[in-house]
Amino acid sequence: PKSVKVALLGCGTVGSEVVRLLHEQEHDLTARIGAPLELVGVAVRRLNKTRELPVDPALFTTDALGLVTREDVDIVVEVVGGIEPARSWLLEALHAGKSVVTANKALLGEDGATLHKAAADCGADLYYEASVAGAIPLLRPLRESLHGDRITRVTGIVNGTTNFILSSMDATGAGFAEALEEATALGYAEADPTADVEGFDAAAKAAILASMAFHSRVTSADVYREGITEVTAADVASAKAMGCTIKLLCIASKANGAVSVRVHPAMIPRTHPLAGVGDAFNAVFVEAEAAGQLMFYGRGAGGAPTASAVLGDVVAVARNRLAGVRSASESAYADLPVSPIGDV
Ligand code: HSE
Repeated sequence: PKSVKVALLGCGTVGSEVVRLLHEQEHDLTARIGAPLELVGVAVRRLNKTRELPVDPALFTTDALGLVTREDVDIVVEVVGGIEPARSWLLEALHAGKSVVTANKALLGEDGATLHKAAADCGADLYYEASVAGAIPLLRPLRESLHGDRITRVTGIVNGTTNFILSSMDATGAGFAEALEEATALGYAEADPTADVEGFDAAAKAAILASMAFHSRVTSADVYREGITEVTAADVASAKAMGCTIKLLCIASKANGAVSVRVHPAMIPRTHPLAGVGDAFNAVFVEAEAAGQLMFYGRGAGGAPTASAVLGDVVAVARNRLAGVRSASESAYADLPVSPIGDV
């Protein structure tokens, strides 16, 4: 059968793993989709960088816009991150009728509405499982499996870097600065850890989760946000003395027709399922009226875990394209009032 043609934007930690998995699992993916996936271009910032990847070097290009609008491309996968130019590229792709798979939490958190509108207007798929909690299947369960239920609250640890720092402070009694240094040395924290430690990364993910859980439009700016830079060794010790641990939580809830979303350090009893989530792991605790309590746990960051979620989305949108359908679940969004901290 005719191949499904994939354009990849970005070839860093996640993009390289996507290339590797596409190559390694070629036969399985073909069997699962019913047609081969063909990587037809990889947009990168620099062409002369050495990359040891199982891909024809001729596929690399710096012309991302040219690549996404190429007539033969079916699926655009974006793992560049950041708001611009990613937003422009993805809007162009959707307008050209391509299916889009993205891991871009910042963009979805800030301006998911624009992308969803373009996808709906153009009859194209927009999937972004990798944007929240990396490898953990979470958005699809929220938007599909739990669609017959009413979600009341989502409580999550959705930033691996800060969870590593807080877990290490808890385990060793270290202060914030020392634990951050360790996280940087081990490659968890980025050179500029601001987005993680100030809670911006978790706030974007909280906005995406709340939008999906409550069929509403929540943006990163709607989220009350407090990072972990002020958490001291003494805070952690007092929490311990009370049988608690400190975690950076995102808490999204819905009550009385309004949504409240917040990200801040919180003391939780050591008996809570989220208390045992250590290292750089993520976990999301979902409460729904009929389902009761659900816990999603796994690796929320890193090349391979994030690429796993990206590939899962690629398989889903490839199947949709071959069947001539698109996922219509996004049309059910209602605009609910959002209060940053609220009383729920
Ligand atoms: N910096 C993020 C984290 C990467 O630490 O969780 C995954 O989104």
